[in-house]
Formats: sequence, C-alpha cells, structure tokens
Amino acid sequence: GNGAAKAQKSRNILEKLDESDKNCVVFYGSQTGTAEDYASRLAKEGSSRFGLKTMVADLEDYDYDNLDQFPDDKLAVFVLATYGEGEPTDNAVEFYEFFGSDDVSFSEGGSAQDKPLSSLKYVAFGLGNNTYEHYNSMVRNVDKYLTKLGATRLGAAGEGDDGAGTMEEDFLAWKEPMWQAVCESMGLEEREAVYEAVFEISEKPDLSAEDATVYLGEPNKNHLEGTQKGPYNANNPFIAPILESKEIFTTPSRNCLHMEIGIQGSNLSYTTGDHIAVWPTNAGKEVDRFLNILGLGPKRHTVIAVKGLDSTAKVPFPSPTTYDAAVRYHMEISAPVSRQNVSTIAQFAANDEIKAEMIKLGNDKDYFHEKVTDRNLNLAQLLEIVSNGQPWSKIPFSLMIESLLKIQPRYYSISSSSFVQKDKIAITAVVESTEKVGAPHIVKGVTTNYLLALKQKQHGEPNPDPHGLEYSITGPRNKYDGIHVPVHVRHSNFKLPSDPSKPIIMVGPGTGVAPFRAFVQERAAQAKAGQNVGKTVLFFGCRKASEDFLYQHEWDQYKEALGDNFVMHTAFSRDGPKKVYVQHKMEEYGEELNKLLEQKAYFYVCGDAAHMAREVNTLLGKVIAKYRDVPETKGESIVKAMRASNQYQEDVWS
Ligand code: FAD
Ligand code: 2AM
Repeated sequence: GNGAAKAQKSRNILEKLDESDKNCVVFYGSQTGTAEDYASRLAKEGSSRFGLKTMVADLEDYDYDNLDQFPDDKLAVFVLATYGEGEPTDNAVEFYEFFGSDDVSFSEGGSAQDKPLSSLKYVAFGLGNNTYEHYNSMVRNVDKYLTKLGATRLGAAGEGDDGAGTMEEDFLAWKEPMWQAVCESMGLEEREAVYEAVFEISEKPDLSAEDATVYLGEPNKNHLEGTQKGPYNANNPFIAPILESKEIFTTPSRNCLHMEIGIQGSNLSYTTGDHIAVWPTNAGKEVDRFLNILGLGPKRHTVIAVKGLDSTAKVPFPSPTTYDAAVRYHMEISAPVSRQNVSTIAQFAANDEIKAEMIKLGNDKDYFHEKVTDRNLNLAQLLEIVSNGQPWSKIPFSLMIESLLKIQPRYYSISSSSFVQKDKIAITAVVESTEKVGAPHIVKGVTTNYLLALKQKQHGEPNPDPHGLEYSITGPRNKYDGIHVPVHVRHSNFKLPSDPSKPIIMVGPGTGVAPFRAFVQERAAQAKAGQNVGKTVLFFGCRKASEDFLYQHEWDQYKEALGDNFVMHTAFSRDGPKKVYVQHKMEEYGEELNKLLEQKAYFYVCGDAAHMAREVNTLLGKVIAKYRDVPETKGESIVKAMRASNQYQEDVWS
C-alpha cells in the first residue's frame, strides 16, 4: 500500500483489534492519568491472569459509530472519570456526545434497529468524587446509554470515590467479581499470573548522554533540537520564562508563591478565569532514592532505548533517554503507592522473607493501610523499608514504567487579567508540605516545591532541599536563558459577565482568591478606562491578617479605581477567639447579598471543593430563603436554578 495512508493511524477500533490480534479493548476517559492507569492495570491483569488479548485505547483516538459491529466474542472495557461538574474528561467529550445524543446513528444504520448494540459485551468502572454534585455521572450515564442500546454489561458498573479517599480500594473490590463474570461469559479460566513486560529496555553503552539525539527531559523532537514550536497544548508544553517570582505570605512557616509567566511570542492566549497547567520536575532527592533502591544509581546516565513489545503499547516518554531523565521528568514517583502494584512487585524480591512481607502488604488491606497509606509512603520509600535498604535489582524497569503514572501537569487558576496583561500569566500557589506524626518522611508537593526551587534559584537563595535542577530541560544544554517552566493553557467556563456593569459577588478563601484577583484587576482597569463597572463584592478568608492575607496592599489600589463599587469582606479564622469563615461574613451581609442577587448579580466560588464550596452553597440557599421570606427548600431550588443558568459558577478543587 500507500505509505501516507499507512502512516495515518486508523480510527477504526474493529480493524485495530483484528490487525493486532486482540480480543479485548480497554478504553479510558482520563483527565489526571488515574483512569488511564487503571485501564492499563486492567489490560495487564486480563492478559496475565486470564489470557485475554488486551489493548489499551484513548477514547479520543477512535470512532464509535461502528460499535454496532463489535463481535460478540470480544470485550470492551470502559474506565471513565467524571470531571468537575459532571463533565466528561477532555479526551472523552466526543464519545460522550455521541452516545448522549437523542438519535445515536451507527454506520450500518444501526439506529433504525431497536437494539443496535446487542452484540457488544462491556465492563465499566467510573472514577468520581462524592464532594461534587454529579457524582460519577460519566459512568452512570454511559452505562445507561449502552444498556438502552442493547449492549450487555458483565459484572456491576464500578464506582470509585476520590472524595472519600477510597478510589483504589473501590477499584480492587469491584474487579474480582467483574473478572468472574467475564470468565463465565467468555469461557475463560484463571491461570497462574505470569509477568510479561510491556516494554523492552535496551541499554546503549556506546551512546553518551550528552549526545544531541538523547532526550534529557525535552518533551518532543522540536524541543530536543532547540526549535520549540506551537501549537502548545497538553502534548506540547511551552517552555515559558518566569519573569517574576516572589513569596507572598508574611510568615516563615508556610510558603505561597506569586509568579509571572511570560507567554509572549508563543501564540498561547488566555482569557480571565482560565487555568494554566504547569509540568513539574521531580525532586532530586526522590529521584536519587528511586534510582538507588532499584540498583540503578551507578548507571543512571546510561542511555536507554525504550520500545513497546506490542504494537498497541505506547511508550509514555520519548526515547532514547537515560534512566535518570525518564524518572526525573516523566514518572510520578512521589505519589501514594497502589496496593495492587505491591502484589505484582513481590515476585521480584531478593529473598523469601521480603517476598512474604510484600505479599502480605498486597493482600491485607488493613495491614497495608497501617504500614503504607497512613504513613504517606511513596513506592521507593516503601521498598527501602521492606528490604532494609537493599537494592531491588531484579525489578524490570518496564514494570516501573507500567506501574507508575506518567507525570501529570498541575492546574492553577490564573490570577491575572488578560485585559490588563495578555502576555503574562500570574499564578498564586501555596507550597504543599505535609508532616504527619508517625510518618518517616515529610510529603512535599511535587509541583509547588519545584516552583519554590525555581524561585529560589532565580533569587540566588539557598535551597535546603536541593531539587536537582542541574538536569532540568533549561539546564545543561542551555537552550533557554534564565529560569523557565513548561506550561500550557486550559480554557475554562469560569467567566466574568461580558457586560461589566453587571454586579458580581466572589467568594474565595485562601488561594481560592486567585481568579478573583484577576477579576478585580480587570474591573479596576475597565473603570479606569472609563467603562461603567458594576458592584464588585469579594469575600476573602485566611488564617491571620498578619500572615496569609494574600495581595493585602493591592486591594487598596483597586479600591481607588473602583471606589465604593468595590467592597471586600474579610474573615480571619485564627485572629480571634472564634473561627470566622467566609460563610459567617456572607450571613452577616446577607441582606445586601440577596439584594444583589435579585439584581441578577453573578455569584462565583473558588477554592476548596471538599468543605468550603459546599457550605457556601448551602448557606446561600438559607440567605435567600431568609430575605425572600420563602421556605429553605425553595431557597435551595433557587440556588440550583442559578447554577443551571450559570449565574452561579464554581472553580473548585480538592
Ligand atoms: P502533589 O505532589 O500533587 O501532592 C498533592 C497532595 O497529595 C499532597 O499535599 C499530599 O497531601 C498528597 N500526597 C502526595 N504524595 C503523597 C504520598 N506519597 N502519600 C500520601 N499523600 C500524598 N492550587 C493553588 O495553590 N492555587 C491555585 O490557584 C490552584 N488552582 C487550581 C485549579 C484547578 C482547576 C485545580 C484542579 C487545582 C488547582 N490547584 C491550585 C491545586 C493544584 O493543581 C495542585 O493540586 C497543588 O498545587 C498541589 O500540587 P503539587 O504537585 O505540589 O502536590
Ligand atoms: P482554618 O484553617 O483556620 O480552619 C483559607 O484556608 C481559610 O479558609 C483559612 O482561614 C481556613 O481556616 C478557612 N477554612 C477552613 N475550612 C473552611 C470551611 N469549611 N469553609 C470556609 N473556610 C474554611
């Protein structure tokens, strides 16, 4: 055939299954990588335990209008995360729209039939968070659509809950009966699991790590050749200059960073209320720990070529690279450990005693929680403890690539206005550091401590916990002058009213104030430019006025521009004898709040999803009920209606 046609990847999943001799496809809809990780674990387990011939597929890479032709001796698995307010993940939007439409139309005219999917057997698991209103709506709806179209689900549709922190256990508990149902339906038998590597790792002793063809953290070829070019997106970050970085807490015990990131010349654009994604580099200390416990310390800079042993296996980073660079830039090595992975790793223990301990950890949920989860261990820290520091040289590096998530960008609510500074994006990030009694290590957030290290480097400050920036992509090859960070922009629906004369109410304690700094900055600039700007009310909360009052002195400037139209209510939770939260202030100013809402004010909440955002939602219903003299249930339904019409908008995270 035709070379060009061959190079173009087929979007036909039936052809792909045939071509690669597979009988099971595991589709994933993933935003932060967890669903993708579960999908690859199911695929691996299906093949090693039950002899299924599995492949993993990104929902975005295939069409679905031929699923009515899906053979009844094959299996489709759907691992689906629900994002934000019951939305599909970015890569599942088209899939969701296809099946959610009123007249799903298949290529063979299947929609004319009553049950076009009657030959499709499937399995489904959802990843959700019960602190959000539309808990696991993605898997619930997809399951409903598929069943209605005549498909047969094997086992129960599983639901994992990140809000309760039980995602991993929910997944493990769901999959055993699911596999039984699959075996029964497909006539499979369990066999003794054999580990089969997914990737082949070839060491290249003749190639130097300094060679221009070797990737040392560069995300793709253009970056490697020093000619980065757009469009910049989640597959191709922009290496952006950090134009300014500073500490904005006034207490030595915690850190909050304000950074200005330059996007001039990148063709990246943002509008006020969008998010910026930041790609981290792992901490040097954790990279060292990981390589050493695998016995790879001495050959960390050896060049390796990594390739999939099967045409459907995707190598999650560019190759050739080095062990060091693969771990430092591409593997999520500091995350909590999965119990399932511990069971798989057991077979590579140096002796029977270590093996027995790993098997116990893998099988005994409570023991695992006591020894691992409750002590906040990452994988290398666990391996160090179990083997007493002896290297685990028998673990294939492929297994580590398979077991760990590929490194994920973290999102930040942009804290600058695009109307004021279209070429610079501001970030407001609190540096994560979790100390726990009984835990042997302090958990340091990967991205925020990386940003802290960049800030320290920019100012020539000592970094007590060296972050190993010497091999950063902005490092030895000197492709970029100064301090840089890989980023891309994610557009959001969290938006100011297009007419600035409309009143707005904002609730943003802590770093939840980030997008509201942008909102107020924008409205102040609009007022200065002579536009008619409406009432602008901000509820802000923090611990103490003297410690973490973010942008304390800027608000006065905005006040100058906006005059009495800008009102700020502050809640300091640890300044007085009693905790004062933003909700208390909302209650205090309830009458005014209600009046503004009756004038169709937009209402915005940003920050903590787990508690604050829910409590604010509830309180608003009460305030409305009180001042409109209606029952509280009516107040609640008014709030619901405000959400549905976008008068109430949230930008929350947990
Ligand atoms: P991670 O390394 O991702 O760790 C996060 C937390 O996970 C740790 O604090 C710890 O509690 C836990 N953890 C990590 N490893 C372990 C382990 N081995 N064992 C047990 N627990 C562990 N943040 C802001 O500061 N400002 C913003 O404006 C902002 N906007 C956001 C907007 C959106 C839409 C979203 C989704 C999030 C936003 N965040 C914001 C949060 C931000 O994306 C990051 O989650 C946060 O900065 C932490 O990232 P990190 O890489 O430093 O920490
Ligand atoms: P606290 O830590 O003293 O309890 C920013 O983190 C601010 O939000 C802090 O003042 C914090 O108070 C406060 N906060 C904590 N839980 C909250 C909740 N459920 N609702 C509103 N604010 C909260």
